[in-house]
Amino acid sequence: MIRAMEIADVEAVLCIDQECKASNWNKQHFHYELEENAFSQLYVLEEDNEILGFIGFWITFEQCQLTNIAIAKKWQGKGYSKILMKHMIQKAQEAHCEHISLEVRKSNHRAQQLYRSFAFIEVNKRERYYTDNYEDAIIMVKGLGGE
Ligand SMILES: CC(C)(COP(=O)(O)OP(=O)(O)OC[C@H]1O[C@@H](n2cnc3c(N)ncnc32)[C@H](O)[C@@H]1OP(=O)(O)O)[C@@H](O)C(=O)NCCC(=O)NCCS
Repeated sequence: MIRAMEIADVEAVLCIDQECKASNWNKQHFHYELEENAFSQLYVLEEDNEILGFIGFWITFEQCQLTNIAIAKKWQGKGYSKILMKHMIQKAQEAHCEHISLEVRKSNHRAQQLYRSFAFIEVNKRERYYTDNYEDAIIMVKGLGGE
C-alpha cells in the first residue's frame, strides 16, 4: 500500500536512501521536506509494516519534479518502483501539471531505463552537476498535457 510519509518513517526511509545511494539527503532534509516545504510530497510503499521504498516530488504551479525515489535493495527488481512512479503521475495529473521533470546521474542506467519506460525523454544535460564526483546530470521530462 502507498501512504503519505510521516516523521516516524524518517529513520527507515533514510536507511533505504543511504543503502541505495539514492540521494545525499540527511535526516534534516527529510524533516524539512515533511514539515516545512509546502510543495513537497513524500510517499512510502509499505507491506506488512515494512517500508519497501519511497518517492518524493514537488508540485509547484502545475509543474511536477521528481526529487527522490528508491526501493530497498532486497525488494528491487520486483516492479515496486513502477507502483510509486504511477502514483506520482496520477498526483501530477490530478494537479493538472503540464509535465514532470527529473535529474538523473549519467551512470544510473537502471533509473534511466525506468523513466524511459514511463515515456520520459532526455531533454538536456547539466555538466559536472553532482558535487560528490562531478558527474553529469541528465534532465528528463514527461509531458502530461496539463489535462
Ligand atoms: C531505480 C530503482 C528505483 C528501480 O526500482 P525497482 O523496484 O528495482 O525497479 P522495478 O522492478 O520496478 O523495474 C522498473 C523498471 O526499471 C528498469 N530496471 C529495473 N531494474 C533494472 C536493471 N537491473 N537494469 C536495467 N533496467 C532496470 C526497467 O525498465 C524496469 O522495467 P521492466 O521490468 O518492465 O523492464 C531502484 O533500482 C533503486 O532504488 N535504485 C537506487 C536509487 C536510485 O537510483 N534512484 C533514482 C535516483 S534518480
